[in-house]
Amino acid sequence: RQWARNGVNGAHRHYSWHSHVQKYMRALHKAWGKRHRHRRLRAKSRLPTVDRIVVCELDNTLLGDPDALHRLLASLKAADGHVGLGVATGRSLDSALKLLRDWKVPTPDLLVTSVGAEIHYGHRMVRDQAWAGHIAYRWDRNALHEALRVMPGLKLQPKAEQHAFKISYFMDEKKAPRVRDIIRHLRLKDLHATVIQSRGMFLDVLPSRASKGLALRHLGMRWGLTPERFLVAGYSGNDEAVLRGNTLGVVVGNYSSELGRLRGRPRIYFAQAEYAWGIMEGVDYYDFFGAIRIPEEEGLEHDGDVAGISA
Ligand code: GLC
Repeated sequence: RQWARNGVNGAHRHYSWHSHVQKYMRALHKAWGKRHRHRRLRAKSRLPTVDRIVVCELDNTLLGDPDALHRLLASLKAADGHVGLGVATGRSLDSALKLLRDWKVPTPDLLVTSVGAEIHYGHRMVRDQAWAGHIAYRWDRNALHEALRVMPGLKLQPKAEQHAFKISYFMDEKKAPRVRDIIRHLRLKDLHATVIQSRGMFLDVLPSRASKGLALRHLGMRWGLTPERFLVAGYSGNDEAVLRGNTLGVVVGNYSSELGRLRGRPRIYFAQAEYAWGIMEGVDYYDFFGAIRIPEEEGLEHDGDVAGISA
């Protein structure tokens, strides 16, 4: 009888309409409070108000030629605040921020760092937690590390270059297997990862849902921008995924040979000019600060004020 009474009392306490409403209201207050804090943070970010973003690799692309950099920053500033600046780099967040300080570049509106392992926003460097949650899927860092230990020609990069979602190696191309064989080796062990080789000397292993390209797709959905609203500039292998996206790609004149295979692909413009001059050449090519034109697709279809097709 005692147990039966406890059961009835317990059910009233935990499962009655009254307690359900109380719990619901508590959860609502909690979420509402968080939302208010979130809105204050966001108010500092320019992202909700920009309608297009220039996203650049740092090394040998945005940085490298001081005159070009200052011209590009000046034209971004002159663009009336509707053009955002983003960075997508292989470097860690700390290393990217230090480099930006050294080159006196104002904090970008967004940073995709460690080849897409992390996304941060604005001055406060707010981390995109949704992205972290999304890419954690099927990521087993220890097992991947263990499986690659036996591979010849791979040597771990220093600790500062490693990340919870990125294992980076120096790669000796003569001794190491081909990337496709490395991926096959991992698959046989039921391990899932994105494997990226750059400049004939780096190998990055990331979650299968992570790359700079996928990070950009996430950003587009999050901030309500179609791919044509991103102009993406890069120069080496770790930019390939981001350039292959449906965004407007620019390969700067001083690119690394592995990007040569992207020639002829739609929406990838190979600039003659180097470093940030090349980015500006791409901005002109697409009229990115104006009506946004995609020359090879002109006349096919129209999407708002953007000429071209979107898939
Ligand atoms: C940067 C990173 C390095 C990475 C390389 C290629 O140099 O510091 O960890 O392997 O880019 O993505």
